Amino acid sequence: MIATDTITEEILQLKRRNKAILLAHHYQEHEIQEIADVVGDSLELARKAQSFEGEVIAFCGVWFMAETAKILNPHRIVVVPDKEAGCSLVDSCPADQVKAFKKLHPDHAIVSYINTSAEVKAESDIICTSRNAVQVVNSIPAGKPILFLPDINLGNYVKKQTGRENMSIWQGACIVHATFSARRLLSVRAQHPDALLAAHPECPPEVLKMADFIGSTSAIIDWCIHHDADEFIIMTESGVSHSLQQRAPHKKYHFVPNEYCNCSECPYMKRNTLEKLRDCLRSLEPRVELSPEIMERARLPIERMLALR
Ligand code: 13P
Ligand code: SF4
Repeated sequence: MIATDTITEEILQLKRRNKAILLAHHYQEHEIQEIADVVGDSLELARKAQSFEGEVIAFCGVWFMAETAKILNPHRIVVVPDKEAGCSLVDSCPADQVKAFKKLHPDHAIVSYINTSAEVKAESDIICTSRNAVQVVNSIPAGKPILFLPDINLGNYVKKQTGRENMSIWQGACIVHATFSARRLLSVRAQHPDALLAAHPECPPEVLKMADFIGSTSAIIDWCIHHDADEFIIMTESGVSHSLQQRAPHKKYHFVPNEYCNCSECPYMKRNTLEKLRDCLRSLEPRVELSPEIMERARLPIERMLALR
């Protein structure tokens, strides 16, 4: 087995040779986050991709995030360590079903969570992330009916926050957050009664009801770090522990295992490894390839979101 240090050294050399940037989501394994140029939530990574001026983006995250980077950089190379790094939300929302909905309801604005395929983005009016979903929905004129897709929990949370009545919600779910249960949360809470609860909006409503803070991965990290309290229960993927430990190592963080296993890891995110990252920088494969027509149509709703500040 080759030592991690040797692989890391080769990755850094390949990065320089390819004029590449390494973008990593908070759910990536710690060794990847350690060497990334930027670690962030979906919105921060999309913004970084938008302003990138090098040649290669090595996207350590899931495929839809890399597609977003490619749409914003149609003439640059975008690679992902593992092509199978998908997302259950993307799978829950096929583009032909969105097209069928639009045919039946041409008056609706389609607000798509960034966790969708490029084809679905191309059918959308505007994209949102967990960080700005409330702001995005509020940017749509009050009288305009909305289809929010595909996450049911995020959709219900946004509907509640905005008080928007004319908003239909797709029935998709994240296999990680949707299986965080109130039952398991209560048992962790019983062990740590003083801990505050921070949750991602993809969690079920009964979990969100108990939360002291709801936000994106980066927002959860910032909130915990800047809060006076020093003990937290975190209801999102456990990869966020890397930034939490680095930025506030004196605080305590408790993760809640989801209902059907004893971890809180995303199996798609964890497909990427340091070795696969090195391999993809060596071969510049697997590469995101999208048709120019899809990229052009998908860029507009992404840029509409990025224009909101
Ligand atoms: P963030 O945009 O909050 O990082 O979320 C991405 C994601 O996939 C949540 O499961
Ligand atoms: Fe998709 Fe859920 Fe994994 Fe995020 S945690 S990438 S929403 S499956």
